[in-house]
Amino acid sequence: MERLDKFLADRGAGTRSQVKLLVKSGAVTVDGRVERDSSRKVDPAKEQICLHGEPLVADSRLVVMLNKPAGFVTATEDKTEKTVMQLLPPEFQNRDLKPVGRLDKATEGLLLFTNDGDLLHRLISPKKEVPKIYYARHEGEASLADVQAFAQGLTLRDGTVCRSARLEPLGPGESLVTVCEGKYHQVRRMMASRGMTVTYLERRAEGPLTLGGLPRGEIRQLTAEEIMQLEMPE
Ligand code: URA
Repeated sequence: MERLDKFLADRGAGTRSQVKLLVKSGAVTVDGRVERDSSRKVDPAKEQICLHGEPLVADSRLVVMLNKPAGFVTATEDKTEKTVMQLLPPEFQNRDLKPVGRLDKATEGLLLFTNDGDLLHRLISPKKEVPKIYYARHEGEASLADVQAFAQGLTLRDGTVCRSARLEPLGPGESLVTVCEGKYHQVRRMMASRGMTVTYLERRAEGPLTLGGLPRGEIRQLTAEEIMQLEMPE
């Protein structure tokens, strides 16, 4: 048994206070009867809970997107550094969320979290080749030869061979880089191997998802449709 407001909030119906208003307005039914008491205990396995007439399934899978600010390490805990877990608001704490892949401490932008271990592994698997788009500011200017070297698959200074990637110069000292792998410091090292030191890096897209207008430091829950697109990007 769990509280009705918690059940609704966990399924993305809104924050706890938004959910309370929804319940008060009569938008929620439990086994066909309008329920206006959001503190009421429900058993989602036995009772049918509907929002605006649509049944909500007892699926506690959660995927959220963070627009990561610089200065936080991607780790579940760290002795000295601030971690991305500290950016999760209370309703997403204790939900067993883990970051999907990692962004460097200085890198900003799109970082997913999920409590679904299978989805997490599928998204970070090099076999799945989920494309990630980064905006980079860097020293020097990307040339046609750099674009071709990225497309052919770069060899980094330590001999690591990268898969084909897309380098799109936007102007002097500014490029978009699309990679389908997640090697350590990959974009910074790829750019460095062509003599372009990255001074700022932001992940703007991962598979079908983009940051959209999500403000820096904010989190939002993915919709069921977005999760479906993530699972079947083609
Ligand atoms: N590549 C990098 O170099 N850093 C990141 O944070 C992500 C990709």
